[in-house]
Amino acid sequence: MTRSINGRIEVPGDKSISHRVGILGALSSRGIEVTNFSSGADCASTLDCVEKLGCSVERHGDRVKVARGEGIAEASRTLDAGNSGTTARLLCGLLAGVPGTFSVLTGDDSLQRRPMSRIVDPLRVLGARIDGRDGGKRLPLSIRGTRLTGGQYVLPMASAQVKSALLLAGLSAQGSVTVVEPLPTRDHTEIMLEHLGVPIRRDGDSVTVYPFDDLPGGSWRVPGDFSSAAFWIVAAAICSDSSVRLSGVGLNPTRTGLLEVLRSMGLDCSVENESAQGGEPVGDLIVRSSSLRSVSVGSDMVPSMVDELPLLAVAATQAEGTTEIRGAGELRVKECDRIAAVAEGLRAMGADITEHDDGWTIPGSQKLRGARVDSRGDHRIAMAMAVAGLAADGPVEILGSDCVSISYPEFFSQLEELSDDLVPTRG
Ligand code: S3P
Repeated sequence: MTRSINGRIEVPGDKSISHRVGILGALSSRGIEVTNFSSGADCASTLDCVEKLGCSVERHGDRVKVARGEGIAEASRTLDAGNSGTTARLLCGLLAGVPGTFSVLTGDDSLQRRPMSRIVDPLRVLGARIDGRDGGKRLPLSIRGTRLTGGQYVLPMASAQVKSALLLAGLSAQGSVTVVEPLPTRDHTEIMLEHLGVPIRRDGDSVTVYPFDDLPGGSWRVPGDFSSAAFWIVAAAICSDSSVRLSGVGLNPTRTGLLEVLRSMGLDCSVENESAQGGEPVGDLIVRSSSLRSVSVGSDMVPSMVDELPLLAVAATQAEGTTEIRGAGELRVKECDRIAAVAEGLRAMGADITEHDDGWTIPGSQKLRGARVDSRGDHRIAMAMAVAGLAADGPVEILGSDCVSISYPEFFSQLEELSDDLVPTRG
């Protein structure tokens, strides 16, 4: 424990919710208007794509309005999802069901390596005409919109992106679409549809949507992104003499698994000013330095903290006892192979960490040292390593640190605001 962080900040608007504002807004002639839209490049990719499809996008700072405009039309140019898996997968679900359109969807090098069969296969079962590299397993994909049939799909993996792609397809299908999940995943699509007044049935592990032509409009404030707040939760917990207030953070329980796990490890955290925004629970989190104990996390906890697992690994190095994180094989197909990237980064800082196919074993109470670590171009790895750097006894240089702009462009300036000491060196 070498540094402390103190202060009060507001993290940017939730990335997952902002994507859905962009995509559901494109199906509404009245439009969806929000404040606190995510400042990250990923959500700008979504807005760029829906604009290319002929929808109306107005953006003034964090205020964004998306509306159907003339209706979704064939884009004359390739749709570029950039680094964003959510953009690519949700758009696929949307476009597969728009007859008369032909779309080509691609992304950056990282996204072109990521699996797309998880959406292409179920959409094809509904009648979608999608082709692509490697038989439709990877971007670029071509989508010839067609009238989809309804149906039921049992998801083989817990993925909110796949679930949401199918629900979006269901809105323009001939019959209802039911998705059955193996474990609960983030339910922002369902909450937003309910909040807009669109009929949707949720029953245990299944969710059903019905064909719906023109979504009602709405306006609200996007909650702060829990996944961004998570960096400060762990930072405050592992640094000494620290106390941070994070205002207006989204507290949807399908997202806050990290909080639950850290609390079981001894996190000192309280919640104030609880309210709701756009149907989503929101509150202020007050987090203080904590004496953490080790934990064991299995597959049942993974979906509610899938993006925060690299951070939990960082926290584990500072907890008392050995932490086991397993059942997280999905991390291998995120923006980079996050299991390998975390092991490599923490080892560079002198940590002992064992890598498994689906997670890590991490002894606690470790001394970390300054080092040069590779973000592998992955925003969450860059920020997790910066947090680890707060507990290291020398400067940490993060190669490719600019990638934080994917979800959290303000990350390093907010780190400087909160930190009373040296900040990690950026590479
Ligand atoms: C997201 C779902 C998750 C998450 C991603 C955002 C979403 O991906 O990792 O950052 O907005 O639906 P998976 O659906 O692949 O688990």
